[in-house]
Amino acid sequence: MAKPVSVRWRGRTPAVQDRTGNMQIRKAVFPVGGLGTRFLPATKALPKEMLPIVDKPLIQYAVEEARAAGIEEFIFVTGRGKTAIEDHFDHSYELEDLLSSRDKDQALAQIRDSVPPAGQVAYTRQQEPLGLGHAVWCARNLIGDEPFAVLLADDLILGEDPCLRQMVEAAGETGGNVVAVMDVPREHTGRYGVLDVGADDGRLAEVRGLVEKPDPAEAPSTLSVIGRYILVPEVFDYLSQMERGAGGEIQLTDAMAKLIGDHPFYGLRFTGTRFDCGDKLGFLKATVAFGLARDDLQEGLGAFLEDLVAGR
Ligand code: G1P
Repeated sequence: MAKPVSVRWRGRTPAVQDRTGNMQIRKAVFPVGGLGTRFLPATKALPKEMLPIVDKPLIQYAVEEARAAGIEEFIFVTGRGKTAIEDHFDHSYELEDLLSSRDKDQALAQIRDSVPPAGQVAYTRQQEPLGLGHAVWCARNLIGDEPFAVLLADDLILGEDPCLRQMVEAAGETGGNVVAVMDVPREHTGRYGVLDVGADDGRLAEVRGLVEKPDPAEAPSTLSVIGRYILVPEVFDYLSQMERGAGGEIQLTDAMAKLIGDHPFYGLRFTGTRFDCGDKLGFLKATVAFGLARDDLQEGLGAFLEDLVAGR
């Protein structure tokens, strides 16, 4: 597993320190309680986070990204009908025995490697669908008093350098909250948390304000939050107020907005291509892009796509 990256934090007295007094981002929250109605009937009995891109479930990509960023504790906020996720991140002795007896060493190593170390994975249930902010709040006692990451598995990012790793590095520079951001077409601002941008060096944009799902005409910019966050634990103080926001839901964006001014807050324009896998077209694009990025599929898939486009 990659080494945790040290981050210097301002704000509350650090609860976790390395020998140099820097804090580490050790914990990540994966909100996986959503119903996935956009992918029915596929998601009737299967959690949407278990839908595969090529041969790996969406949630596994998110967990691997977190591991590459040095995360050591994986906290899933689940809901009804999500036990397949728990089974996925556990040993399957029958399967492992079978693969071992058939000398399928590579497959065996792959499935063993995807299981987090014992005691470093936790599940808690969001008992009511009250929004993303509420889902994150459900993890408050498992996080405690230290900065943490949030990853939304629907947002899948293809790139050389894992997005969360870039963010941990940025948090080390800025000493506070960091969200992944990208420019979206203005007509799409109603799908995102959108930044009111202060100082901006083209990579890091200072967050002066945040609005959840604004109408295009009212959006303060087109720079939008993608589902990766590094947050200070003070965000729980605001989430605890249970204020309803856009869509009548308890929004993470609204609680984050209240941190502005008291804690450094930046948007990071990450490198990599983001796919919205909560959307059918985005999901299909991701399948093609991740397929083309694979050595074992590139040639066959590339040839097929060329023929398809040429109408052969
Ligand atoms: C959530 C957040 C939103 C963010 C988006 C990124 O919205 O509420 O601020 O921009 O994820 O994907 P959702 O997609 O759950 O509606």
